[in-house]
Amino acid sequence: MQIGFTSPIHIINSEIEENLLKNVIKDIYTIRDNDTGFNLSNNLGWHSTPDLFLRNEASIKEVCKICASSIGSIMKNYNPEFNAENFDARFVGWINVNPKGGSNNLHTHPNSHWSGVLYVQQPTEVEGYSGMIEFINPNQEGRDLANLIPQRGFDPIMRIRPKSGQLVIFPSYLLHSVYPNNSDTDRITIAFNSQILKK
Ligand SMILES: [Fe+2]
Repeated sequence: MQIGFTSPIHIINSEIEENLLKNVIKDIYTIRDNDTGFNLSNNLGWHSTPDLFLRNEASIKEVCKICASSIGSIMKNYNPEFNAENFDARFVGWINVNPKGGSNNLHTHPNSHWSGVLYVQQPTEVEGYSGMIEFINPNQEGRDLANLIPQRGFDPIMRIRPKSGQLVIFPSYLLHSVYPNNSDTDRITIAFNSQILKK
């Protein structure tokens, strides 16, 4: 079988150590104290200035490196000949802190190739769709096939609730949104876009 027009959603166990995640969380709250943030797709939540890949905090630098290298690995997955040295990879990253009730409206990330979300703190107590990310299949005509063969790429939507430490990477054209966080624990993610330009 040759796979035709599907959209991949990579769910990666980043293997970020617990200690590093703790330091990231600490640094994120310090950054928030000095950054009023942006109002984009976020409702109630805080969206930081998108300068994460330029910041100097050791913990942030380290997770940005992990995010960037995951894009290189994915590219290599699709094309074993891919050599990062021949490309200029540009990253823009920001932090989302969604308190109880915080959500993100449906959006894409134009002018990027791959987008990613690192789950820094995902509440474990769950109720309904709390804190889930939902992707919309660009091909809505596949829904009848999805009735026959669900979860094989034809479904009109896909919902996931990644765990803390997991990294989700998807093509930037995919529409996605985040359900309100119904938990008392903040849902903290690092989001990023990447552009991979030939040198
Ligand atoms: Fe997004």
